[in-house]
Amino acid sequence: MSQKADKLTPIMTGQPVIPVLKIERAANIVPLATALARGGLPAIEITLRTDEAIDAIRIAASEVPEAIVGAGTVLRARQYEEAVKSGSRFIVSPGMTQELLDAARSYEVPLLPGAVTPSEIMAAMEEGYKLLKFFPAEQAGGAAFLKALSSPLADVRFCPTGGISAANAGAYLSLPNVICIGGSWVAPDELVNDGKWDEIEALARKASQLGKK
Ligand code: 3PG
Repeated sequence: MSQKADKLTPIMTGQPVIPVLKIERAANIVPLATALARGGLPAIEITLRTDEAIDAIRIAASEVPEAIVGAGTVLRARQYEEAVKSGSRFIVSPGMTQELLDAARSYEVPLLPGAVTPSEIMAAMEEGYKLLKFFPAEQAGGAAFLKALSSPLADVRFCPTGGISAANAGAYLSLPNVICIGGSWVAPDELVNDGKWDEIEALARKASQLGKK
């Protein structure tokens, strides 16, 4: 029973922000992942919320060597398998189910499951998980909620996502139980659709400096 944290920790400590991407056209992923990596955010989470997501993972993993590609919104075991086979190096889920825990045991690729309430977090700890997603962060109580968990549940560290932007990122990154944050603000749909890769690189560069003293 463990999370393969040795694989997940370097990814989550390597940059303060993991871009959460919803890719409508797989053709966009090469310039997008390249721009994000150039800006200092090589690890990206491609969510399985679009028809082209798996293609995008496959293309990014094979054609953008500097990218560290993960799959997000993984809800079922068959999606876990598909994401791993497409080259994902980490798997993110908004929650934690027995089916996903079983799938995670079958692969070397680590799982970052979501948990919000103390009971959900304690259930994850019982399974050997100490790195958790916290989603939807802002709606669930935000940085104040996470701060309140840091004393009683001190062994767990979170990657909050949902409603985070440059404006409130600092409040999360200053918490002892936040290892990194995730968000879509570094790759807004308009900039992706218009192919404004330089602007995305600039947003990534700013995000990559967040939390630094
Ligand atoms: C996620 O999937 O982690 C979130 O939907 C990202 O949330 P955001 O779009 O509010 O950053």
